[in-house]
Amino acid sequence: MDKKAFEGKLSMEEHQKKFDNFCDTVIEINWNKILYNRISFISLATQKFKNCKYLEIGCSSNICFNAIPLINKTGVDPEKGGNIRDTSDNFFKNNKKNFDVIFIDGLHQYEQCRKDIINSLKILNENGFIFLHDMIPRTWLEENVPRLQSVWSGNVWKVALELIKTKEIDFFVIKADHGVGVIKKKKENVVYHDDYESIKNLKFKDFLNLNEKIKYLDPEHALELILSH
Ligand SMILES: C[S@@+](CC[C@H](N)C(=O)[O-])C[C@H]1O[C@@H](n2cnc3c(N)ncnc32)[C@H](O)[C@@H]1O
Repeated sequence: MDKKAFEGKLSMEEHQKKFDNFCDTVIEINWNKILYNRISFISLATQKFKNCKYLEIGCSSNICFNAIPLINKTGVDPEKGGNIRDTSDNFFKNNKKNFDVIFIDGLHQYEQCRKDIINSLKILNENGFIFLHDMIPRTWLEENVPRLQSVWSGNVWKVALELIKTKEIDFFVIKADHGVGVIKKKKENVVYHDDYESIKNLKFKDFLNLNEKIKYLDPEHALELILSH
């Protein structure tokens, strides 16, 4: 349901009563005006590796998967796209391969996204990259779990609060394409910082208050950093 149709059905007071995530603040960013997207950053990272091994979790219509300029790619999706028809949990259970670049864009819920990151960190080569999509929700409707409208980031932004405390990685979020998270693995064994109990119940309002802790970069600066790593 889009925002207009949704809002047309309920008054502001009804919104507030029905959804404890309701918040009338809107982050004013028009993503269409920023022409870099996830594919720009992921493609650049893949070029840093000889015979780069690429994994995408959540492929849908293959818009990203088919645009990554590599021959050997692994794409996991239980519904459509990629080349492995399974959930990420099952894939990680059975997988024996390691990867240089991993794009996590599957189920957009904090619990699933953090599991996908923890599993990915174990099979990511040293100096490898993990990319995350939809790290900047602009409204409570874009953020709400369960999903209420077609443009949806979900609450994957919460992983940023754990990643900023995780040692032996670099982590930042690029201000493009709904927020592209970048993790660079600097050492072989990385232990994901677990703050689950204090994070699980946070709402969109908390994102507005806490996001100053997160390092946000303009696309040009991010491209330089990816290249220099
Ligand atoms: C936003 S789409 C992916 C878009 C794609 N990565 C791109 O950039 O064009 C999310 C996809 O995640 C898939 N998905 C949902 N739950 C999943 C899970 N548990 N494991 C892997 N993929 C999942 C959905 O089927 C959907 O196709």
